[in-house]
Amino acid sequence: MKIGIYVFSGTGNTRIAAELLTESFRNSGADAEVISIEDFTKSKAIPDLSKYDMIGIGYAVHAFDAPWPAYDFMRSLPESPGKQLFLFKSAGDFFWNGGSSSKVRRTLVKKGFDVFHETLFVMPANVLMRYPDAIIKNLYTIAKKTAEKSAGEILSGRRALAKNGMIKRIFTRLFSSAESFGVKRMGRRMRVSAECNRCGLCWRECPTGNITEGETRPVFGKRCSLCMRCIHHCPKYAITPWLKFFRLKEPYNMKKIVADKTIPDDALKSVDKGFYKRYRGYFEKRGLL
Ligand SMILES: Cc1cc2nc3c(=O)[nH]c(=O)nc-3n(C[C@H](O)[C@H](O)[C@H](O)COP(=O)(O)O)c2cc1C
Ligand code: SF4
Ligand code: SF4
Repeated sequence: MKIGIYVFSGTGNTRIAAELLTESFRNSGADAEVISIEDFTKSKAIPDLSKYDMIGIGYAVHAFDAPWPAYDFMRSLPESPGKQLFLFKSAGDFFWNGGSSSKVRRTLVKKGFDVFHETLFVMPANVLMRYPDAIIKNLYTIAKKTAEKSAGEILSGRRALAKNGMIKRIFTRLFSSAESFGVKRMGRRMRVSAECNRCGLCWRECPTGNITEGETRPVFGKRCSLCMRCIHHCPKYAITPWLKFFRLKEPYNMKKIVADKTIPDDALKSVDKGFYKRYRGYFEKRGLL
Protein backbone atom coordinates (compact mmCIF):
# COMPACT_ATOMS: atom_id res chain seq x y z
CA MET A 1 0.00 0.00 0.00
CA LYS A 2 1.48 3.34 -1.04
CA ILE A 3 0.00 6.48 0.51
CA GLY A 4 0.58 10.08 -0.65
CA ILE A 5 -0.07 12.66 2.07
CA TYR A 6 -0.55 16.18 0.69
CA VAL A 7 -0.40 18.95 3.26
CA PHE A 8 -0.87 22.70 3.49
CA SER A 9 0.78 24.00 6.65
CA GLY A 10 1.61 27.61 7.45
CA THR A 11 3.66 27.43 10.62
CA GLY A 12 4.40 23.70 10.74
CA ASN A 13 1.73 22.14 12.98
CA THR A 14 -0.16 20.36 10.21
CA ARG A 15 3.13 19.28 8.69
CA ILE A 16 4.02 17.66 12.04
CA ALA A 17 0.64 15.90 12.03
CA ALA A 18 1.40 14.63 8.49
CA GLU A 19 4.82 13.38 9.61
CA LEU A 20 3.31 11.60 12.62
CA LEU A 21 0.75 9.91 10.39
CA THR A 22 3.52 8.87 8.00
CA GLU A 23 5.50 7.34 10.87
CA SER A 24 2.45 5.43 12.08
CA PHE A 25 1.69 4.12 8.58
CA ARG A 26 5.27 2.98 8.17
CA ASN A 27 5.22 1.25 11.56
CA SER A 28 2.24 -0.72 10.26
CA GLY A 29 4.07 -1.78 7.12
CA ALA A 30 2.54 0.73 4.67
CA ASP A 31 4.62 3.03 2.50
CA ALA A 32 3.76 6.72 2.99
CA GLU A 33 5.25 10.05 2.01
CA VAL A 34 4.47 13.70 2.67
CA ILE A 35 4.16 16.16 -0.21
CA SER A 36 3.75 19.93 0.21
CA ILE A 37 0.68 21.44 -1.40
CA GLU A 38 2.57 24.73 -1.75
CA ASP A 39 4.83 23.19 -4.41
CA PHE A 40 1.72 22.97 -6.59
CA THR A 41 0.37 26.38 -5.49
CA LYS A 42 3.50 28.04 -6.82
CA SER A 43 4.07 25.98 -9.99
CA LYS A 44 0.41 25.28 -10.84
CA ALA A 45 1.53 21.72 -11.70
CA ILE A 46 -1.09 18.94 -11.59
CA PRO A 47 -0.26 16.26 -9.00
CA ASP A 48 0.24 12.73 -10.27
CA LEU A 49 -1.94 10.58 -8.02
CA SER A 50 -1.53 7.39 -10.06
CA LYS A 51 1.46 6.24 -8.03
CA TYR A 52 -0.56 6.12 -4.80
CA ASP A 53 -3.17 3.57 -3.71
CA MET A 54 -4.59 6.07 -1.23
CA ILE A 55 -4.41 9.83 -0.75
CA GLY A 56 -4.40 11.95 2.39
CA ILE A 57 -5.09 15.68 2.40
CA GLY A 58 -4.28 17.81 5.42
CA TYR A 59 -4.69 21.51 6.10
CA ALA A 60 -4.42 24.09 8.83
CA VAL A 61 -7.86 25.27 9.91
CA HIS A 62 -8.48 28.92 9.02
CA ALA A 63 -11.77 30.43 10.18
CA PHE A 64 -13.27 26.96 10.71
CA ASP A 65 -12.47 25.94 7.14
CA ALA A 66 -9.56 25.17 4.82
CA PRO A 67 -7.36 28.05 3.58
CA TRP A 68 -7.69 29.06 -0.05
CA PRO A 69 -4.43 27.43 -1.27
CA ALA A 70 -5.76 24.07 0.01
CA TYR A 71 -8.99 24.62 -1.96
CA ASP A 72 -7.07 25.65 -5.08
CA PHE A 73 -5.11 22.42 -4.78
CA MET A 74 -8.20 20.26 -4.28
CA ARG A 75 -9.88 21.86 -7.29
CA SER A 76 -6.81 21.17 -9.41
CA LEU A 77 -6.83 17.42 -8.70
CA PRO A 78 -7.58 15.06 -11.59
CA GLU A 79 -10.89 13.15 -11.68
CA SER A 80 -10.28 10.05 -9.53
CA PRO A 81 -13.35 7.83 -9.38
CA GLY A 82 -13.38 5.56 -6.31
CA LYS A 83 -9.90 6.54 -5.08
CA GLN A 84 -9.76 6.33 -1.31
CA LEU A 85 -8.99 9.62 0.41
CA PHE A 86 -8.68 10.56 4.07
CA LEU A 87 -8.68 14.07 5.50
CA PHE A 88 -6.91 15.56 8.48
CA LYS A 89 -6.72 19.08 9.79
CA SER A 90 -4.99 20.87 12.61
CA ALA A 91 -6.70 23.56 14.65
CA GLY A 92 -5.70 25.70 17.61
CA ASP A 93 -8.71 24.50 19.57
CA PHE A 94 -11.12 21.54 19.51
CA PHE A 95 -14.07 23.95 19.43
CA TRP A 96 -16.63 22.72 16.88
CA ASN A 97 -14.18 20.12 15.70
CA GLY A 98 -12.32 22.86 13.80
CA GLY A 99 -15.50 23.75 11.88
CA SER A 100 -17.47 22.00 9.18
CA SER A 101 -15.64 19.90 6.60
CA SER A 102 -18.68 19.72 4.31
CA LYS A 103 -17.33 22.07 1.66
CA VAL A 104 -13.95 20.31 1.57
CA ARG A 105 -15.64 16.94 1.29
CA ARG A 106 -18.01 18.12 -1.44
CA THR A 107 -15.09 19.53 -3.44
CA LEU A 108 -13.37 16.14 -3.35
CA VAL A 109 -16.43 13.97 -3.85
CA LYS A 110 -17.16 15.98 -7.02
CA LYS A 111 -13.83 14.68 -8.34
CA GLY A 112 -14.94 11.11 -7.61
CA PHE A 113 -12.84 10.49 -4.48
CA ASP A 114 -14.15 8.16 -1.82
CA VAL A 115 -13.63 10.42 1.22
CA PHE A 116 -13.92 7.95 4.08
CA HIS A 117 -12.00 9.17 7.13
CA GLU A 118 -11.28 12.43 8.88
CA THR A 119 -9.07 13.40 11.84
CA LEU A 120 -8.74 16.56 13.89
CA PHE A 121 -5.33 17.27 15.40
CA VAL A 122 -5.61 19.76 18.24
CA MET A 123 -2.44 21.80 18.04
CA PRO A 124 -1.22 25.07 19.58
CA ALA A 125 -2.83 28.19 18.16
CA ASN A 126 -0.57 30.18 15.85
CA VAL A 127 -2.68 33.32 16.27
CA LEU A 128 -4.01 35.39 19.16
CA MET A 129 -2.79 33.37 22.14
CA ARG A 130 0.66 31.90 22.84
CA TYR A 131 0.24 28.53 24.56
CA PRO A 132 2.78 27.73 27.29
CA ASP A 133 5.62 25.42 26.27
CA ALA A 134 4.46 22.57 28.53
CA ILE A 135 1.00 22.62 26.91
CA ILE A 136 2.57 22.68 23.44
CA LYS A 137 4.66 19.64 24.32
CA ASN A 138 1.65 17.78 25.69
CA LEU A 139 -0.33 18.58 22.52
CA TYR A 140 2.47 16.99 20.54
CA THR A 141 2.31 13.80 22.65
CA ILE A 142 -1.44 13.71 22.11
CA ALA A 143 -1.01 14.33 18.37
CA LYS A 144 1.27 11.29 18.25
CA LYS A 145 -1.41 9.11 19.86
CA THR A 146 -4.05 10.61 17.56
CA ALA A 147 -1.91 9.74 14.52
CA GLU A 148 -1.40 6.14 15.70
CA LYS A 149 -5.13 5.66 16.26
CA SER A 150 -6.13 7.26 12.95
CA ALA A 151 -3.50 5.40 10.91
CA GLY A 152 -4.81 2.08 12.31
CA GLU A 153 -8.38 3.02 11.40
CA ILE A 154 -7.44 4.26 7.93
CA LEU A 155 -5.50 1.11 7.10
CA SER A 156 -8.39 -1.06 8.22
CA GLY A 157 -10.72 0.97 5.96
CA ARG A 158 -12.92 2.19 8.82
CA ARG A 159 -15.33 4.93 7.77
CA ALA A 160 -15.23 7.81 10.26
CA LEU A 161 -16.43 11.21 9.08
CA ALA A 162 -17.29 14.14 11.32
CA LYS A 163 -20.92 15.18 11.65
CA ASN A 164 -21.50 18.65 10.23
CA GLY A 165 -24.85 19.96 11.46
CA MET A 166 -26.67 22.84 9.77
CA ILE A 167 -25.60 25.52 12.31
CA LYS A 168 -21.97 24.46 12.09
CA ARG A 169 -22.17 24.54 8.28
CA ILE A 170 -23.74 28.01 8.22
CA PHE A 171 -21.24 29.51 10.66
CA THR A 172 -18.32 27.94 8.85
CA ARG A 173 -19.59 29.37 5.58
CA LEU A 174 -19.97 32.87 7.07
CA PHE A 175 -16.60 32.93 8.84
CA SER A 176 -14.64 31.42 6.00
CA SER A 177 -16.17 33.69 3.34
CA ALA A 178 -15.23 36.72 5.46
CA GLU A 179 -11.76 35.31 6.01
CA SER A 180 -11.08 34.53 2.34
CA PHE A 181 -12.14 38.07 1.46
CA GLY A 182 -10.10 39.61 4.28
CA VAL A 183 -6.79 37.75 4.17
CA LYS A 184 -5.73 38.79 0.70
CA ARG A 185 -6.34 42.43 1.63
CA MET A 186 -4.80 42.09 5.07
CA GLY A 187 -1.74 40.46 3.56
CA ARG A 188 -1.02 43.61 1.58
CA ARG A 189 -0.93 45.61 4.76
CA MET A 190 1.77 43.74 6.65
CA ARG A 191 4.16 46.10 8.33
CA VAL A 192 7.89 45.48 8.51
CA SER A 193 9.86 47.21 11.23
CA ALA A 194 13.33 48.73 10.97
CA GLU A 195 14.64 45.57 12.68
CA CYS A 196 14.49 43.79 9.28
CA ASN A 197 17.99 42.80 8.18
CA ARG A 198 16.88 41.69 4.69
CA CYS A 199 17.84 38.09 5.34
CA GLY A 200 15.36 37.03 2.64
CA LEU A 201 13.77 34.22 4.61
CA CYS A 202 10.24 35.63 4.30
CA TRP A 203 10.26 35.98 0.52
CA ARG A 204 11.96 32.60 0.08
CA GLU A 205 9.54 30.76 2.37
CA CYS A 206 6.15 32.30 1.59
CA PRO A 207 4.00 29.36 0.39
CA THR A 208 2.03 31.48 -2.08
CA GLY A 209 4.91 33.52 -3.47
CA ASN A 210 3.30 36.66 -2.06
CA ILE A 211 6.47 38.45 -0.93
CA THR A 212 9.08 40.20 -3.04
CA GLU A 213 12.36 41.68 -1.99
CA GLY A 214 11.46 45.36 -2.48
CA GLU A 215 14.02 48.16 -2.50
CA THR A 216 14.38 48.63 1.24
CA ARG A 217 11.82 46.32 2.89
CA PRO A 218 9.96 43.19 1.75
CA VAL A 219 6.82 43.97 -0.27
CA PHE A 220 3.59 42.01 0.14
CA GLY A 221 1.25 41.28 -2.78
CA LYS A 222 -2.36 40.18 -3.25
CA ARG A 223 -1.91 36.44 -2.70
CA CYS A 224 -1.58 36.18 1.06
CA SER A 225 -3.31 33.29 2.85
CA LEU A 226 -2.46 34.68 6.28
CA CYS A 227 -0.65 31.45 7.02
CA MET A 228 1.54 33.35 9.55
CA ARG A 229 4.75 31.74 8.33
CA CYS A 230 6.61 34.93 7.43
CA ILE A 231 5.62 36.41 10.78
CA HIS A 232 6.62 33.36 12.86
CA HIS A 233 9.83 32.54 11.04
CA CYS A 234 11.27 36.04 10.71
CA PRO A 235 14.45 35.93 12.85
CA LYS A 236 13.81 39.54 13.98
CA TYR A 237 10.05 39.08 14.49
CA ALA A 238 9.83 42.22 12.41
CA ILE A 239 6.54 41.55 10.56
CA THR A 240 3.21 42.63 12.03
CA PRO A 241 -0.19 42.04 10.44
CA TRP A 242 -2.69 44.83 10.11
CA LEU A 243 -4.72 43.35 13.00
CA LYS A 244 -1.83 43.47 15.46
CA PHE A 245 -3.50 41.32 18.09
CA PHE A 246 -3.50 38.41 15.63
CA ARG A 247 0.23 37.96 16.12
CA LEU A 248 1.43 35.90 19.10
CA LYS A 249 3.43 37.71 21.77
CA GLU A 250 6.27 35.41 20.90
CA PRO A 251 6.47 32.67 18.23
CA TYR A 252 7.13 29.04 19.12
CA ASN A 253 8.99 26.17 17.53
CA MET A 254 7.15 22.97 18.35
CA LYS A 255 10.00 20.66 17.38
CA LYS A 256 12.44 22.53 19.62
CA ILE A 257 10.00 22.43 22.52
CA VAL A 258 9.47 18.69 22.03
CA ALA A 259 13.23 18.10 22.02
CA ASP A 260 13.71 20.05 25.26
CA LYS A 261 13.99 17.41 28.00
CA THR A 262 13.47 19.95 30.79
CA ILE A 263 9.83 20.46 29.69
CA PRO A 264 7.33 17.85 30.95
CA ASP A 265 5.12 16.15 28.36
CA ASP A 266 2.02 15.53 30.47
CA ALA A 267 1.18 19.00 31.82
CA LEU A 268 -2.52 18.73 30.99
CA LYS A 269 -2.97 15.81 33.38
CA SER A 270 -2.59 18.06 36.39
CA VAL A 271 -4.49 21.10 35.11
CA ASP A 272 -7.59 21.59 37.26
CA LYS A 273 -8.51 25.21 36.58
CA GLY A 274 -8.27 27.95 33.95
CA PHE A 275 -8.40 27.90 30.15
CA TYR A 276 -6.72 24.51 29.65
CA LYS A 277 -9.01 22.58 32.00
CA ARG A 278 -11.45 22.00 29.12
CA TYR A 279 -8.60 20.41 27.15
CA ARG A 280 -8.05 17.91 29.91
CA GLY A 281 -11.71 16.84 29.86
CA TYR A 282 -11.77 16.65 26.05
CA PHE A 283 -8.69 14.44 25.79
CA GLU A 284 -9.52 12.24 28.78
CA LYS A 285 -12.91 11.45 27.26
CA ARG A 286 -11.12 10.26 24.10
CA GLY A 287 -8.54 8.18 25.97
CA LEU A 288 -5.72 10.42 24.71
CA LEU A 289 -4.49 11.66 28.10
C1 LIG B 1 -6.00 32.93 9.66
C2 LIG B 1 -6.11 31.87 10.71
C3 LIG B 1 -7.37 31.44 11.12
C4 LIG B 1 -7.48 30.45 12.11
N1 LIG B 1 -8.71 30.02 12.45
C5 LIG B 1 -8.84 29.04 13.38
C6 LIG B 1 -10.15 28.52 13.70
O1 LIG B 1 -11.16 28.91 13.14
N2 LIG B 1 -10.23 27.57 14.65
C7 LIG B 1 -9.12 27.07 15.29
O2 LIG B 1 -9.25 26.21 16.16
N3 LIG B 1 -7.87 27.51 14.98
C8 LIG B 1 -7.72 28.48 14.02
N4 LIG B 1 -6.45 28.92 13.68
C9 LIG B 1 -5.27 28.31 14.33
C10 LIG B 1 -4.64 27.24 13.46
O3 LIG B 1 -5.62 26.44 12.85
C11 LIG B 1 -3.73 26.30 14.25
O4 LIG B 1 -2.79 26.97 15.02
C12 LIG B 1 -3.04 25.32 13.30
O5 LIG B 1 -2.47 24.27 14.05
C13 LIG B 1 -1.97 25.99 12.47
O6 LIG B 1 -1.41 25.03 11.61
P1 LIG B 1 -0.10 25.26 10.76
O7 LIG B 1 1.02 25.46 11.76
O8 LIG B 1 0.05 24.00 10.00
O9 LIG B 1 -0.31 26.45 9.92
C14 LIG B 1 -6.31 29.89 12.70
C15 LIG B 1 -5.06 30.33 12.27
C16 LIG B 1 -4.96 31.30 11.28
C17 LIG B 1 -3.59 31.73 10.85
S1 SF4 C 1 12.44 37.42 7.37
FE1 SF4 C 1 12.33 39.27 8.64
S2 SF4 C 1 14.43 40.04 8.74
FE2 SF4 C 1 14.33 38.58 7.03
S3 SF4 C 1 13.86 39.84 5.21
FE3 SF4 C 1 11.91 39.12 6.01
S4 SF4 C 1 11.23 40.75 7.40
FE4 SF4 C 1 13.39 41.09 7.03
S1 SF4 D 1 2.73 36.76 3.04
FE1 SF4 D 1 3.25 35.74 4.99
S2 SF4 D 1 1.26 35.24 5.90
FE2 SF4 D 1 0.89 35.70 3.73
S3 SF4 D 1 0.97 33.71 2.67
FE3 SF4 D 1 3.04 34.59 2.60
S4 SF4 D 1 4.11 33.74 4.39
FE4 SF4 D 1 1.90 33.44 4.69
